[in-house]
Amino acid sequence: MVKIAHLSDLHFGRTHEAALTALASALEAAEPDLTVVTGDLTQSGRRKEFAEAASFLSALDGPVLAVPGNHDAPVYNLILRFFSPWSRYEKHIGAASLQRVVLGDVCVIGVNSARRAQPRLNWSYGRLSRRVVDEVSHLAKAEQNAGRTVLLALHHPLVIGPNKAGAKIVGNGEYALRSFSESGVKAVLTGHVHLSAISPVTATGGRILSVQAGTAISTRQRGEEASFGLLDAERDSISLMRYRFTGDRFLSDPPAAYRLESGVWRPAL
Ligand SMILES: [Fe+2]
Ligand SMILES: [Fe+2]
Repeated sequence: MVKIAHLSDLHFGRTHEAALTALASALEAAEPDLTVVTGDLTQSGRRKEFAEAASFLSALDGPVLAVPGNHDAPVYNLILRFFSPWSRYEKHIGAASLQRVVLGDVCVIGVNSARRAQPRLNWSYGRLSRRVVDEVSHLAKAEQNAGRTVLLALHHPLVIGPNKAGAKIVGNGEYALRSFSESGVKAVLTGHVHLSAISPVTATGGRILSVQAGTAISTRQRGEEASFGLLDAERDSISLMRYRFTGDRFLSDPPAAYRLESGVWRPAL
């Protein structure tokens, strides 16, 4: 079994200080094998915000896999945003391109879905190019053939849950979902909407589990308290403990558990 802490939307620059302190304690107690951060590590992509995020992540025990979010391309330095959008991210946090971490029977692939700009009015929605989707799918297929359960981490949702009115899926999301499902991706870990949810994705016939994290420590809340997830992942099962910030600590909800039966995720009773 692999224990994964799933954090998202830290938004350093808009941090809830008590939640930040409580998160560090909760993660120390949880001792995850891997910490996955699904984007928006900073509020505006400022150097100071990245330095704070890097300091927090480097103090954690164990490996970290982080992917950028739309807030991580510098907002106020437009030259940097358009000509080198991920240079600050890569200097402070790590690679912004495709990443892979293997832990026993589990492989986590990280992909950047954020864009410096897009041919639509709202650039915050993100986009996955067909080239990147094909690259991820090729990698996922190889990992599945090697007998591993493949989880994918990206900032933008591939599906929108029932409580996220007004949200949009990432550009090329339908193509990506179809390709990832056919390539053996078993779960997608996402953020961006600052609301938590877990469910099998109907559009894939239940073959992919969507794990949506809320904001872990930011004051940018959307009607839901700060939270993070602790996943226990095995070859054919995933269970999620959602930890919610109660004012001075994170306390867990009852676990939500799912089992793969003939390639389809079903709630485990
Ligand atoms: Fe965010
Ligand atoms: Fe975002």
